[in-house]
Amino acid sequence: MTQSSDIDWPKLLQQAIEARNFAYAPYSYYKVGAALLTKNGTVFTGCNIENAGYSSTICAERTAIFKAVSVGELDFVAIAVVTSNAGAPCGVCRQVMREFAHDLPVLVGNIAGKYQIFSLTELLPQSFGPESLS
Ligand code: THU
Repeated sequence: MTQSSDIDWPKLLQQAIEARNFAYAPYSYYKVGAALLTKNGTVFTGCNIENAGYSSTICAERTAIFKAVSVGELDFVAIAVVTSNAGAPCGVCRQVMREFAHDLPVLVGNIAGKYQIFSLTELLPQSFGPESLS
C-alpha cells in the first residue's frame, strides 16, 4: 500500500494541470484536469468534455478513471484534480472514485499550484459502495 507521503504530489498536480489544457468546455468555460495514479505507477489523465446536450458532459475525474478501468487498471493510489479556483470534485465523481477505492487521497488544486489533500472518506462520508450490496 503506497503511503500518501510517498506520492509525488507536485508531479501529479502538474500532470493534472497539463491535462486541463485539453478540456473541452465551450459551454461553462470551466476547465478541469485530473491525473490518476494507479498501483503499478501508471498515470491516467483526464479533462472535462462538455456536450451540447448538457447532461452528456463528462467530468475530468471520470474521464481519467474510465480510461484506467477500460484497460484493466482498477487499483488506484491517488488522484489530483485541478481547476482555476480549486473547486472540489462533484458528487458523481466522488461516488465513482468510491467504487474502486475505499479511501483514496484526493488532491484538489488550482492552476497556480496551490493545493490541499483530502481523503475520499472526508469527501464522501457514510458512503454506499460495492460491499453495501452484499
Ligand atoms: N466538472 C468536472 O470536470 N469535475 C467536477 O468534479 C466538477 C465539474 C466539469 C463538468 C463541466 O464541464 C464543468 O466542470 C462545469 O460543471
